[in-house]
Amino acid sequence: MRYSRIAATGSYLPAKVLTNFDLEKMLNTSDQWIRERTGIERRHIAADGETTVDLAEHAVRAALDAAGCRPEDVDLIIFGTTTPNLFFPNCGVLLQARLGCRGVPAFSVETACSGFMYALSIADKFVRAGEAKRALAIGAETLSRITDWTDRSTAVLFADGAGAVLLEPAEAPGIVSTHLHADGGYWDLLYSGGGTDLSKPSRAITMKGNDVFKIAVNTLTKSIEETLAANRIVPAALDWLVPHQANLRIIQATARRLDLPMERVITTVQDHGNTSAASVPLALDFGVRSGKIRRGDLILLEAFGGGFTWGSALIRY
Ligand code: UT7
Repeated sequence: MRYSRIAATGSYLPAKVLTNFDLEKMLNTSDQWIRERTGIERRHIAADGETTVDLAEHAVRAALDAAGCRPEDVDLIIFGTTTPNLFFPNCGVLLQARLGCRGVPAFSVETACSGFMYALSIADKFVRAGEAKRALAIGAETLSRITDWTDRSTAVLFADGAGAVLLEPAEAPGIVSTHLHADGGYWDLLYSGGGTDLSKPSRAITMKGNDVFKIAVNTLTKSIEETLAANRIVPAALDWLVPHQANLRIIQATARRLDLPMERVITTVQDHGNTSAASVPLALDFGVRSGKIRRGDLILLEAFGGGFTWGSALIRY
């Protein structure tokens, strides 16, 4: 039996930092409200002209460096994003041209905040099937481009960044199991228009935050329980939970329901805000590079977002 494992992780945040105090000057909001309701203190915002693929390229090169691999070694690129540079070609293709590994399959998945979870799950299957040896699963976003900066209910939440993992074949399971779901019945609770549906011309993120919050906590708890049950383990067996970084209260509520102490939860939402598809690989890379996550640790990743789409993965790092 052939498995895949994470050879290395990488991430990138644009240089510009926007604090809650900066937002106080732009909107009718306060540092206190944002901290209490979301846990966010600051976030990174792409410079003018800096694109989703630019951020992803930095993250991917960091992962390749950490793995001691060259771009030519990559034979599959799966790019999770909800803020693509272009309608087409997809971001995976644009990134491939920069890396120089021409000819290898490259595509994007548009499952909003779950984009990385979907990318990871698909990449794992390619490696297990022997159709790829070194596969990149990426989550990268420039959500600042589709944020309505006059809408305080969303402008304080979303931000920019990128994260990537390089998968390689392994004798023992690194990606132990992945579990993906979607329910399109909820599409209008969280969406961005500006596509070919002319009845939804605005690109600005539109969200019924309260409804999303409640469904997110319930769904993420069930998603984690599904993954634990599939592997016949209890929460206490986990070394780390690396959750989607949308709101500290969602993360705390999920951890509480699972009886998982916050000391074993990687949280970056305070510094990164909600970076959608980038949030889980950014948090994973932060955990690895800060020395918290070590080789051999058992980790549960999860994300939930627009669609709704959601997914979780158990990995042995
Ligand atoms: O990543 C994809 C998944 N996304 C999520 O998981 C996000 C889920 N939702 C949330 O995180 C939260 O619902 C929010 C952070 C978006 C909002 O927090 P909330 O506790 O649900 O607040 P709310 O929407 O119920 O609003 C409470 C009050 C309202 O005022 P009134 O009607 O009580 O007078 C809002 O107008 O807070 C007001 N408000 C703000 N006040 C200051 C909303 N945004 C702001 C703001 N600053 N930025």
